[in-house]
Amino acid sequence: MARSPEIRIAPDSHTWAASAAELVYTIGQEAVRSNGRFLMALSGGTTPETLYRALTSPAFSGRFDWSQTTFFFSDERGVPPDDPRSNYALANNALFTPLNIMPSQVYRMAGESRDLQTAASEYEQQLRLATKTSPSAKPTLDLILLGLGEDGHTASLFPEAPALLDSQSLIAVTQSPKGPTTRLTMTLGVINRASVILFLVAGTGKAEVVRAVLNPKTEAERQLPASLVVPETGRLIWLLDRAAAAELQNPSTVDERTRAG
Ligand code: 6PG
Repeated sequence: MARSPEIRIAPDSHTWAASAAELVYTIGQEAVRSNGRFLMALSGGTTPETLYRALTSPAFSGRFDWSQTTFFFSDERGVPPDDPRSNYALANNALFTPLNIMPSQVYRMAGESRDLQTAASEYEQQLRLATKTSPSAKPTLDLILLGLGEDGHTASLFPEAPALLDSQSLIAVTQSPKGPTTRLTMTLGVINRASVILFLVAGTGKAEVVRAVLNPKTEAERQLPASLVVPETGRLIWLLDRAAAAELQNPSTVDERTRAG
């Protein structure tokens, strides 16, 4: 039986960033302590930048030994790695470079490829190899970060995308209604297998869709891609700021102020 989501609401962007970094730090510590390594997938979009800045800030940068961490991506846009719209480019500039992460620790999706289907299969193989997952099994990442689009998409799984029904592939090619249109994305099969899934969502623009996913009223809202993120056995955490949580009816919340102290 899937666990109910943990909904955390931070009163302001500073506490939100600190809470996001503390969560990554704590989950990373635990993964390295129990498995000797930390397998983490980064999300796309702009929201992760706030987390990256917090993780590279003096408050956090020296606290975690990143040498046991392997980085993957939950999705990528069909653009070159130096394109400002590339999820890899953002992570490389705001996280990997400041933390001196070795290139061998990073598995990026080849968004620049002319044949994205082949790029998807190649990334699937890399994911299995790097996580030591047998050909018939699905990898269990320690942490997958996800964002949320105003249409209810997450990673690059858009409403009514055929990839939502794909229970075989680990990585799929999808089309985004907004540019860059062609995308590579982890499928629900990989996402829902993770030990911890962490939705990072902030801002007024997300309040309605957060309500639709966490307090759905219609079947259409229950079928939104983000609503289909239900961990098989792992934890599902939503870290929201007060603006993004504004439409939620009596959420069973953990007020981050108490946690962040
Ligand atoms: C992407 C993403 C996407 C993103 C949401 C939220 O590559 O676009 O992975 O799912 O997380 O669109 O984007 P923002 O953080 O920019 O609001």
